[in-house]
Amino acid sequence: MVARALDLVIAAASLSRVVGLPNGLQSAYTAAGAFPTSLYASYYNDPTATTAEPQPVVSDPVTHEIYPYWLTDAEEIPQNDTTEIHPLPAPVTSSVLLEAAIAQIASIASNPVFANDTCAACQASLVAAKFLAMAAPEQGPALSVRLCEYFNYSTTVDCETTYGINTLASVITQVIAAADVGGYDGQMICNEFLDLCPRAPTSPLDLDSWFAKPKPDPLPPPKQPTGERLKILHLSDLHIDPRYAIGSEANCSDFLCCRVNSYNESSPDKVVQPAPRYGAFNCDSPYPLIVAVLQAIPALTGTEEPGFDFTIYTGDLIPHDPANELSRAFTVYSESVLFDLIKRLVNTGPVYAVQGNHDTYNMAMNSPYNIGNGLVDQFNWDYNHLAALWELEGWIDGETAQQARTHYSAYSVQRQDGLRIITINTDFWYTLNYFNYINLASSDNSGMLRFLTDELQDAEDAGDRVWILGHVLSGWDGTEPLENPSNLFYQIVDRYSPHVIAGIFFGHTHEDQLSIFYSNNATNISAENAQTVAWITPSVTPLTNLNSGFRVYEVDSGTFDVLDAYTWQADVNAFGALDGQTEYGPTFEFEYSARDAYGGSITGWGANDPLNATWWHLVTEAMETNSSLIQLYNLYQSKSSAMTPECTGECLSAKICYLRSGSASLSFANCPAGYGSTQNGPYPS
Ligand SMILES: *[C@@H]1O[C@H](CO)[C@@H](O)[C@H](O)[C@H]1NC(C)=O
Ligand SMILES: *[C@@H]1O[C@H](CO)[C@@H](O)[C@H](O)[C@H]1NC(C)=O
Ligand SMILES: *[C@@H]1O[C@H](CO)[C@@H](O)[C@H](O)[C@H]1NC(C)=O
Ligand SMILES: *[C@@H]1O[C@H](CO)[C@@H](O)[C@H](O)[C@H]1NC(C)=O
Ligand SMILES: *[C@@H]1O[C@H](CO)[C@@H](O)[C@H](O)[C@H]1NC(C)=O
Ligand SMILES: *[C@@H]1O[C@H](CO)[C@@H](O)[C@H](O)[C@H]1NC(C)=O
Ligand SMILES: *[C@@H]1O[C@H](CO)[C@@H](O)[C@H](O)[C@H]1NC(C)=O
Ligand SMILES: *[C@@H]1O[C@H](CO)[C@@H](O)[C@H](O)[C@H]1NC(C)=O
Ligand SMILES: *[C@@H]1O[C@H](CO)[C@@H](O)[C@H](O)[C@H]1NC(C)=O
Repeated sequence: MVARALDLVIAAASLSRVVGLPNGLQSAYTAAGAFPTSLYASYYNDPTATTAEPQPVVSDPVTHEIYPYWLTDAEEIPQNDTTEIHPLPAPVTSSVLLEAAIAQIASIASNPVFANDTCAACQASLVAAKFLAMAAPEQGPALSVRLCEYFNYSTTVDCETTYGINTLASVITQVIAAADVGGYDGQMICNEFLDLCPRAPTSPLDLDSWFAKPKPDPLPPPKQPTGERLKILHLSDLHIDPRYAIGSEANCSDFLCCRVNSYNESSPDKVVQPAPRYGAFNCDSPYPLIVAVLQAIPALTGTEEPGFDFTIYTGDLIPHDPANELSRAFTVYSESVLFDLIKRLVNTGPVYAVQGNHDTYNMAMNSPYNIGNGLVDQFNWDYNHLAALWELEGWIDGETAQQARTHYSAYSVQRQDGLRIITINTDFWYTLNYFNYINLASSDNSGMLRFLTDELQDAEDAGDRVWILGHVLSGWDGTEPLENPSNLFYQIVDRYSPHVIAGIFFGHTHEDQLSIFYSNNATNISAENAQTVAWITPSVTPLTNLNSGFRVYEVDSGTFDVLDAYTWQADVNAFGALDGQTEYGPTFEFEYSARDAYGGSITGWGANDPLNATWWHLVTEAMETNSSLIQLYNLYQSKSSAMTPECTGECLSAKICYLRSGSASLSFANCPAGYGSTQNGPYPS
């Protein structure tokens, strides 16, 4: 090649003739060295210079415009064409946006690229929905209804009734607009509601910055028992059904039974099992059952005079109607009626009540105060009403009521006797509160656990003991609370146990359950590491397949440790026989004492030693070697309902595991799934 190039230079500007090419064909040509300036009439630069390209002045033959020098100037290349910008598409109306979002979600659903990744498809679809919800929120209701229809999402009535503007659509639109749907929030939404993603892992916590002070070491000396026993009533989940229809279908195919519109699919025209006047296994509590239990309590507990030292109510007053049958008016009606009846029929002492997931509208919904955007006050009507009722009944003072109004109906009471009651609104860890899927990775988006921690720190500084009251339990089988907030709660409980926290009390599942909390996130489950327990008390409502019940604790007035728990129940199976007469109502019977039921298996426990976490851990150890104890526990879990299936096989170890799991993260990491309810099915939501 080099030799050939040299040849060309030597033969500059000349043709060389080689013998042998036919018809005047030449073998080489060498161009002239100087640019032929005659090619153009004029130039922007000196075309003869050898240091820069010639820049001819060119005129467009069509437009006759002369191209400017800057267009081809080798020294200064323009970086941006700022003169002839391509047009942007025209904005579209919000209804076109809606159609586009639906079309994109349909494309994602049918695109084979996503066929093996339902999670990616779900989150990508949520992203389309998010931008619609932000840009055209008025189309959010139409979107939720159309997608319900498109995907044949099952509803009790129809998509418009269940997911339309009158029911869940506005909440769905708010949450989709605010949530990180492409990230953690979206993955959890796609898992919890659509079963299209795996659950996201529990988020890490920065506990050093969470707590104001490290845990005292050594712990302050324990409070001394006085030997005096307080009598405390624990009521939960009354779920009054003021629309209960006696004689309607009690064995219905569609939730909720015992209503005029209830029917059994296998016998739509004839009632299979008429709803008894006092209640049934698939129904909430009619007025007569509510009144019967409130009449039974003073008689069975010897509290006509003097009354209870105090009472705790761990939530849920309103029945389990489908979303479209609920309303704000129906919610405040149920709240007013039940607190009034409790006040009038039982000598309760102060009642410390919490808001349950049913004590709001829509069911389970409570939004975080940081949601902004004009939405901050949207549940204040409920917090204000509950706080006002509690103050009116004389159970909390005005200052405490004001705290409840501004803390999601949660409050703290520092009693004169050294016990502090801290209530929390557990909707902020409940899986069915849609608002929890906004910034879920933060573990405490609502600030509810910050409030709890600050109150616990204050109690530690003051030397108080604390009872924490909530509605939705933090652990057990893990299906009710979300992992992140319940994992943080578990660490908070560890930090303030056993020296501050004397007890935790929940309801919600309607079943008689318990959670033991251990130090170090339960990495070493043993009697030595058991710190505190949460008591989950049985419901008054029989839903589902349960008897009706309530509980009384005996508590030492110096330590506030529980010394015994007594449970009573009424056999719902017997309610049918009470119909058509007014001589007898239901019979509430003593079911069991926790100490008597399980204490025989624990050696070295004095008659006045508390039923604390150590004792309960020893009970679970006894269960490991004696499965009859688990059978007994399983029976009591349903308040000895005739409908309780036996717990066998994997169910046996699952129960022990649930007893030892105080957070959803621990349940999921450690326990087999599917045995949470005695009915081996989901809890009613
Ligand atoms: C291109 O134009 C934009 C908008 O005027 C300007 O911000 C940007 O700096 C320009 N880029 C360059 C490389 O000059
Ligand atoms: C999905 O998985 C199936 C079975 O493993 C495979 O045959 C198919 O090619 C996959 N589809 C895509 C789009 O990756
Ligand atoms: C919904 O159901 C209809 C009628 O059964 C069916 O044609 C359609 O394919 C279903 N849609 C989806 C997304 O599965
Ligand atoms: C409903 O009826 C079925 C069939 O007769 C029965 O197995 C079931 O126990 C009934 N449910 C209740 C709650 O009575
Ligand atoms: C009533 O409905 C339930 C639930 O669909 C069903 O299990 C039961 O067999 C029905 N009962 C009767 C008596 O048909
Ligand atoms: C678990 O805790 C017990 C009691 O503190 C202790 O004896 C045991 O060594 C611990 N086990 C492990 C694996 O740390
Ligand atoms: C439970 O009570 C026993 C007996 O009084 C005591 O030894 C033990 O330390 C207590 N456990 C906890 C976690 O407080
Ligand atoms: C097992 O527990 C049952 C129920 O409490 C009890 O009756 C029985 O004596 C226990 N068996 C043993 C071997 O401890
Ligand atoms: C506690 O254990 C669970 C289950 O292994 C885990 O998901 C969670 O992150 C742990 N929490 C902390 C604070 O270590």
